[in-house]
Amino acid sequence: MFGMSRREFLLGSAATAAASSATYALGKSVMSADMQLPIGYFDHSIVPGTVTEGMMGFGEGGPAPTIRLKQHETKSIQVINNLHEASIVHWHGLRHANNMDGVPYLTQRPIEFGETFRYEIQSPDAGTFWYHPHCNTLDQMARGMTGLLIVDEPEDPGFDHDIALNIRDFRLGTDGQFVALYKPRNAARGGTLGIVSTVNWKIQPTYQFPAGSLVRVRMAVTDVTRVGQYRLEGANSKVMALDSHPLISPTPTTSILLAPGQRADLAVKMPEEGESAKLVLDTLAGPRPMATFTSTQATVERSLHEIAPLPANPVSEPDVDNAEILEFVFGWSPDGDEPVASICGSLGYTFWSINRTPWLGDTPGPLDPLAVMKLGKSYILRLINNTPNDHPIHLHGLAFKQLRSDKRDIPNVFTDTALLLSGETMDVALVADNPGDWAFHCHVIEHQKTGLAGYLRVE
Ligand code: C2O
Ligand code: CU
Ligand code: CU
Repeated sequence: MFGMSRREFLLGSAATAAASSATYALGKSVMSADMQLPIGYFDHSIVPGTVTEGMMGFGEGGPAPTIRLKQHETKSIQVINNLHEASIVHWHGLRHANNMDGVPYLTQRPIEFGETFRYEIQSPDAGTFWYHPHCNTLDQMARGMTGLLIVDEPEDPGFDHDIALNIRDFRLGTDGQFVALYKPRNAARGGTLGIVSTVNWKIQPTYQFPAGSLVRVRMAVTDVTRVGQYRLEGANSKVMALDSHPLISPTPTTSILLAPGQRADLAVKMPEEGESAKLVLDTLAGPRPMATFTSTQATVERSLHEIAPLPANPVSEPDVDNAEILEFVFGWSPDGDEPVASICGSLGYTFWSINRTPWLGDTPGPLDPLAVMKLGKSYILRLINNTPNDHPIHLHGLAFKQLRSDKRDIPNVFTDTALLLSGETMDVALVADNPGDWAFHCHVIEHQKTGLAGYLRVE
C-alpha cells in the first residue's frame, strides 16, 4: 500500500469487488436492477428540419427518462456507460448515502467506457430533483445529459395532472449542429449562454390539459449556464415548492428567477377551453416563449384553493443561535494554477477559487475539504461573492436554509442551490446530519470546471 492513500485503497478494493461481480453476473445483476440507464451517443432532431449529431444522452435516444420514486423507497439503477469516455451519475438534491452520490474519487471511481455501476438511490424528501453526470460534465451536459427525477409524496396532493419540464438550452447552429460548447473568455465571466432554448428537448412545445383542471408543473433548469426569469401568463397559478422544498404558504406566481440546478413546482389552473397559458423566459432581447399549455374540453372544474400546501420535508431545523459560522469566499483564482490532467476532463484553464483554493481537477488521492463539520451540529455557511458575476452555489447531500442577504430580501426556504448575486454575502444554515464528503460548487458548469468547486466533510 506504499504511497496509496486510505481513500484510494478503499476505492480500489470497492472497484475490484464491483468489477468482479459485474463480470460474474453481467446478465443477472444487470437484469435485476429496477431500471437500466444506458449512457450513449445519438442523433436527434431538435431544430426542425435538421438532425443534431453527436448528442449524448441517457436512455435509448431522445430526452432522458424522467425517473420516479416514492419518498423513502430505494430504487436500483444500473448505469451502463457506452460513451468512449468516462462518466458518473449524480442525483442532484438527494440527501442520501454518500457512496451513491456520483462524484469522481470523492465517492466512487469514474465509470469508464463499457463499465456499469449500480446506484441505489433513495430520498427522505419528496419533490422535483434531477440527475446529470459529474465527470466530463460540461461536454456531457451540454450535449444532452440532464434528466429529471421525481420523488412522490406518499399521499396524493390532489392535482389532476403532473408534468415535468426539463428546461435547457443547446448551442446549435442553424444547421442543427453543435457549435463550440464554451468560450474561455466567457468561462472567466458569466459563462457561455446557449442558443436554442428547449423544454423536454423541444422548441416551444404545446401540452394539452382539460380546461378547469389543476396541473402540477415541475420546472427544472438543467442548463449549464443560464440564469433566467420565468413567468406563466394566461392562467392563475401558485408556487408550491422551490428546489423540492414546499413553501409553507404558496404564493401566486409572478416572476420566478431560476438558476442552473434550481427547480420550481407550480400549481396551475387551466384556463377556459381553447385558451392557453404560456411559460415565458424574459431575456435581454425580450420575452421568449418556452412552452404553451392549451385547454381542451373541460372535464372538471377545480379551484386553486383545493390544493393545500405540500407536506414539509423532514429537514432538521438548524439551531441558528448556537451555530458555528464558516466563511466561504468565492473569488478569482490566485495566478499560476494550472489544471491537472483528469479522466474527467479539464477546460484547460483555472479562473475561480473558493477561499483562494481553486479546484484543479478530479483526481484520485486525498484532497482537503474546505471545511469539516461535526455530525449533528448546526452551522451557518457565510457565502461571500467577491466577483462581479452571479454564482448558483450548490451543496450535495444536505439541505440548507437561506437566512439573510446583505443585498435583498430572500425567502427563508430550504434549498440545495442558492443563487449568490455578484458582490452579495448570504448566510445559510444547516444541520450537518448526513455523513460524508459532499461536493460544493457553482452550478454554472464552466465555473465549476475552472476552479469554483470543492467539498465539505461531515463526520
Ligand atoms: Cu447538480 Cu454537483 O451537482
Ligand atoms: Cu448535486
Ligand atoms: Cu459561478
